[in-house]
Amino acid sequence: MTGRIPRSFIDELMTRVDIVDLIDSYVSLRKMGRNYTACCPFHSEKTPSFTVSPEKQFYYCFGCNAHGSAIGFLMEYAHLDFIETVQELASRVGIEVVYEQGTQTSVSTTDFDDLYPIMAKAAQYYRQQLRQSQDAIAYLKNRGLTGEIARDFSLGYAPKGWDNLIKKLGTDSDMRNRLLKTGLIKQNESGHRYDRFRDRVMFPILDNRGRIIAFGGRTLHENDKEPKYLNSPETPLFQKSSELYGWYFARKTRPLKRIIVVEGYMDVVALAQYGIHYAVATLGTATTRQHLTRLFRSLSEIIFCFDGDEAGQKAAWRALETVLPLLQHGRQVSFMFLPQSYDPDSLVRHEGVQGFNSRFDQATPLSNFLFDSLTRQVNMNSLDGQARLVELAKPLLKPLPVGPYRDLMLQRLSELSRVNLNNLMRLMQTGEAPKPFLIKKNRAVVASLKELSLVHKAIVCLLHKPMLSQSLDDLSQKLSVLDQPDIKLLLSLIELTRMNPQLKLGAICEHWRGTSYEQTINQLARQNTHFTDTNVDIAQEFTDTNVDIDQEFFHAINRLHEDYAIQRLMFLLQKVTELTVEEKQELKSLSQSRGQIHSYHQ
Ligand code: UTP
Ligand code: MN
Repeated sequence: MTGRIPRSFIDELMTRVDIVDLIDSYVSLRKMGRNYTACCPFHSEKTPSFTVSPEKQFYYCFGCNAHGSAIGFLMEYAHLDFIETVQELASRVGIEVVYEQGTQTSVSTTDFDDLYPIMAKAAQYYRQQLRQSQDAIAYLKNRGLTGEIARDFSLGYAPKGWDNLIKKLGTDSDMRNRLLKTGLIKQNESGHRYDRFRDRVMFPILDNRGRIIAFGGRTLHENDKEPKYLNSPETPLFQKSSELYGWYFARKTRPLKRIIVVEGYMDVVALAQYGIHYAVATLGTATTRQHLTRLFRSLSEIIFCFDGDEAGQKAAWRALETVLPLLQHGRQVSFMFLPQSYDPDSLVRHEGVQGFNSRFDQATPLSNFLFDSLTRQVNMNSLDGQARLVELAKPLLKPLPVGPYRDLMLQRLSELSRVNLNNLMRLMQTGEAPKPFLIKKNRAVVASLKELSLVHKAIVCLLHKPMLSQSLDDLSQKLSVLDQPDIKLLLSLIELTRMNPQLKLGAICEHWRGTSYEQTINQLARQNTHFTDTNVDIAQEFTDTNVDIDQEFFHAINRLHEDYAIQRLMFLLQKVTELTVEEKQELKSLSQSRGQIHSYHQ
């Protein structure tokens, strides 16, 4: 994990990334005029209303209004956070992410960088303690682990006692503060600090790059007095909803075709000991979208492994709901339910690797799991039951990305429910606006644009033609005294585009991510239908070929200058004290320029 990324780096990154390349690697784009289109990945539709503009480096969906830059797309589509997205894009174009040094922000580079070495030192200490603890060694042996596998997974032992780690690593107050940040030590209400992990077998959790970011610790004793597992808390290094135990090792497997998702640390370790190196475990949470997107970026088949009991079924159903929206063509998901009172660890030891592997082949495909569960809930021999099946299936199938997989699922539903496939397809569309309505809606947007304030109009023009600011003079900065909403945003936009003429719409929106301008800029960026008079052709709608965008812009700017002139004139005329020489000069030129502005407009 890392510190703040400076805006200048984002600006630079945005000039290197091509949004068309990026989106095309996820959604197949078709060229249409100056733009590219596809069926929208963010809502389900049969005719494309998702449009990508290479000129503006911006995407927009006329159906659901989804829009944004390359960064915005990747965040939405792959469910990455901002930093992850920037890292991913930077690695795509082959540049190193730059992080800000010594900033005031709470999470700076130094914060992060100082924590990794501590985690590494702690792991080293725990490993060394394991070698010295007869109890811990006996425990692991008793559970069937070899010394080799313990070494491969860098297992360790946190000894008994409240202050072993503090004493070892907390050599000064700075170190103790850092230990606190990593969650390795805790502080009670009276300010006393103590080791979080005591008398536990320690499982280091690694990030994508193999750095230790957290620990899981298992007690050696079977009792109810304390939790069986303790995990590191969420820290700047560790967010458990996106990390998977074992992923760092699993992703090195070649060829990596599939991954098995299990529940426990021990399961991952035991499977690896038996040669199954492609298992990962969630860290005491349900599987999240972040987990799945991370996995699907590297492979196309996921096998979920759950207990055969009711809790296992429930957990499996939750996983199913989470994975459905991610099931593009070519991705495959199945479920493996284990016999009562077995987990993967005990089962692989009981059945051996062959027995376990043969269960892979018998895993239930997601479609079977889904339809079997639903048909069990209704009476399939009655018309009512069949109708109810459709009702139950609808919210599940609707989020499926448009494509062959979705078609097959609908076909299956059609066979089971005996509802005609076309009707089903139509049913899945409801809730979304049909085409003719969309066009009307866009017209309404156009109409309402006429009512935009001058400031907003100028912003919209600049967003779509940033070059325009090059022809403005410095006088424009004076407008900041105008009492108009978003005037400061307009002036910053002028400044930004004058200094960085290469920035396109997408990059401009990115520039203000996370600031108070973000929302307004995004709202105004959507107003791209303003500049065409035909709403028929989507590709054309997204361009500003035949528009008087220049005229609109200078008109708005001139009107603002005029407002400014009036405001100044009023001020100078009403001034009680004698005017200075400069003010007299200003009064004179203001009166003149007012005349000019008027003549320009007539
Ligand atoms: P299990 O109880 O199935 O653990 O919990 P396990 O891995 O089979 O453990 P062993 O075999 O008894 O050693 C599954 C996962 O749930 C989380 C851990 O991540 C564990 O691996 N968990 C469980 C906790 O975080 N805390 C707990 O107290 C128990
Ligand atoms: Mn277990």
